[in-house]
Amino acid sequence: VLGSITCTAPVNIATIKYWGKRDENLILPLNSSLSGTLHQDDLKTTTSIVANDEFTEDALWLNGVKEDISAVRYQNVLKAIRDRATKLQDKPHHVHIVSVNNFPTAAGLASSASGYCCLVYTLAQLYGVEGDVSSIARLGSGSACRSMFGGFVKWEMGTKEDGSDSIAVQVQPESHWPEMNIIVLVVNDKKKETSSTAGMQQSAQTSPMMKERCATTVPQRMKDIEEAIKSRDFEVFGDITMKDSNDFHEVCATTTPPIYYLNDTSRYIINLVEKYNTVSGNIKCAYTFDAGPNACIYLPEQNVTEFLALVLKHFPTGDQTNYYRGPNKYLQQS
Ligand code: DP6
Repeated sequence: VLGSITCTAPVNIATIKYWGKRDENLILPLNSSLSGTLHQDDLKTTTSIVANDEFTEDALWLNGVKEDISAVRYQNVLKAIRDRATKLQDKPHHVHIVSVNNFPTAAGLASSASGYCCLVYTLAQLYGVEGDVSSIARLGSGSACRSMFGGFVKWEMGTKEDGSDSIAVQVQPESHWPEMNIIVLVVNDKKKETSSTAGMQQSAQTSPMMKERCATTVPQRMKDIEEAIKSRDFEVFGDITMKDSNDFHEVCATTTPPIYYLNDTSRYIINLVEKYNTVSGNIKCAYTFDAGPNACIYLPEQNVTEFLALVLKHFPTGDQTNYYRGPNKYLQQS
């Protein structure tokens, strides 16, 4: 064995959504995005990699199933890492990679984000790659670049053709807003029907909402939400988060053919949050939905007990809705 290492990486939940690419191969986005990173002990990927001169090929197992490592995204990531290696480059070898999620894969729970982030981070340790590797994680899955950091993280879309300025940047560390919690209400853990990759391609080509979203709406929201995070203004943060989630699903609905990720339970949760906020007279929690029906709820610690009691009242059996609770803390390496 020439080297072996295990790392974990957490899931991130976007408050300003990435949706649409300007370059499919380099995975360059049409707009910047921003997310919060979960505590790595909640929803995470763990990846172990062994480099050995006796292996006859590179190989990768995801949740116990052998993946096709010749797939272009895996190859792009491996090549980018090996191009920047400071270790192992003079020793002929192959790698065996074993990756496990502690939550359902491809259910709109950002499994590709923690998965590719973890793969790239672990490979970078093994090969001694220095400097920013978020742009390599991006080659695996766009949203993965944001899991490289804890706290609040933006993915700057960048303008260069080679993508060298399309990187993740930490906006604030988790210590800046430690009361912030993210709860994931698991509505359905089945594999989604339209993958993010295919869905955003269709939206970019056909949704009439995309142009304005990328040109004006998102740039303004990026500024406003960064400011809200800086001043820990949950009212503004929550308002922008819910608006961007709603707009993203509207973009999907105005795609040809239309894409629907939310179901009746998702919409029930939206109404529940809206009513709770209206009755309270201020925004106490904020929902956001990715490419699936599961609800992610951002809320300050002081509202968690009350909100969970409300959820239990409306979903008493608990078999439709499980929740993961995670203070927005960050740890990268195990
Ligand atoms: C709705 O990062 O999964 O979660 O780059 O094609 O792998 P690819 O797409 P992916 O898309 C995530 C879309 C989203 C919004 C977000 O996380 O910003």
